[in-house]
Amino acid sequence: MFKGILIEKQEDKYSAQLTELNDDQLPSGNVTVKVAYSTLNYKDALAITGRGPVVRSFPMVPGIDLAGTVESSDDPRYKPGDRVLLNGWGVGESHWGGLAQKARLSGDWLIPHPEGLDERQTMAIGTAGYTAMLCLIALERHGLKPADGPVLVTGATGGVGSFAISLLAGAGYTVTAATGKSSEAAYLKSLGATAIIDRAELSAPGRPLAKEQWAVVIDSVGSHTLANACAGTKSEGLVAACGLAQGMDFPATVAPFILRGVSLLGINSVTQPFQRRVNAWQRLADQLDLQALSVMTRTIGLEDALSAATELLDGRIRGRLIVDANN
Ligand SMILES: NC(=O)c1ccc[n+]([C@@H]2O[C@H](COP(=O)([O-])OP(=O)(O)OC[C@H]3O[C@@H](n4cnc5c(N)ncnc54)[C@H](OP(=O)(O)O)[C@@H]3O)[C@@H](O)[C@H]2O)c1
Repeated sequence: MFKGILIEKQEDKYSAQLTELNDDQLPSGNVTVKVAYSTLNYKDALAITGRGPVVRSFPMVPGIDLAGTVESSDDPRYKPGDRVLLNGWGVGESHWGGLAQKARLSGDWLIPHPEGLDERQTMAIGTAGYTAMLCLIALERHGLKPADGPVLVTGATGGVGSFAISLLAGAGYTVTAATGKSSEAAYLKSLGATAIIDRAELSAPGRPLAKEQWAVVIDSVGSHTLANACAGTKSEGLVAACGLAQGMDFPATVAPFILRGVSLLGINSVTQPFQRRVNAWQRLADQLDLQALSVMTRTIGLEDALSAATELLDGRIRGRLIVDANN
């Protein structure tokens, strides 16, 4: 037997609770992993509360990230005792995920645990930090350098935003953080932001083109915020779009793209090829300020994840929540 959060839906009744599960209930897969740590992402919070249509089949164990040790494997690439890491691949959405003490998975979704980080640290980073790194890599692929000018990070106190600030500042970029939490200015500065703006400056409907302010944007908010970020991006600038905390819509015009040559880059963390995942995680291990990691994280137990999901969606959580699967 092992513990896990189970989401069930019967007729109109949606529920998530911590329960005892057994190995026979685990879904099919060729690698069974003892989970050490998972984490609570925005998507996991939507799944647990049922506030967003994240879960594709029921019952479901949520948790899009996990780090742990292989218990048994029919995949020649992994053997018992190997340390592994997983982000995405529909885990926690259409296949049982990491918010449990055990998971059975496809070996294709795993990577060896990155050198230089322990399981708690990789889950502190989680899909949020991994996505921030994918944004940075995509921007660099399009030629981004610190000398290009200031970078705007939206959703700044969130998971993706916090890591984006820390990674960019560490790499020498000048970062402006857009946040709805003015009380978190000191936190954002401790991550490396040099300027802070109220997210209200970006979240209402705006003009097709605005004053050119940022060379680059990393946006985890979508909707009017993304539209205004594009409108305020300098000529030939880059915008990486990875989230929808304000909304899925994109009420923009093509003006920034056709009149200023702004490029919009989409970031998908769920199905990246193996080597790209390995590279992104090795860069996180090499470049991330581990001191900053401890400032932006808090560890909770599996049961706490249930109430924390609501707090996270209500915007009351700063940074990242690590979930200790054995607590
Ligand atoms: N593309 C991908 O593969 C991928 C991967 C990871 C995450 N995501 C998406 O990225 C987004 C952020 O994820 P996360 O884990 O960083 O979530 P998070 O920790 O909840 O952070 C989201 C942040 O957005 C801001 N925000 C919340 N509601 C808002 C609103 N109505 N208007 C404007 N800003 C708002 C808040 O920051 P402030 O209070 O500082 O303003 C909040 O902390 C989510 O939509 C998530 O689904 C996508």
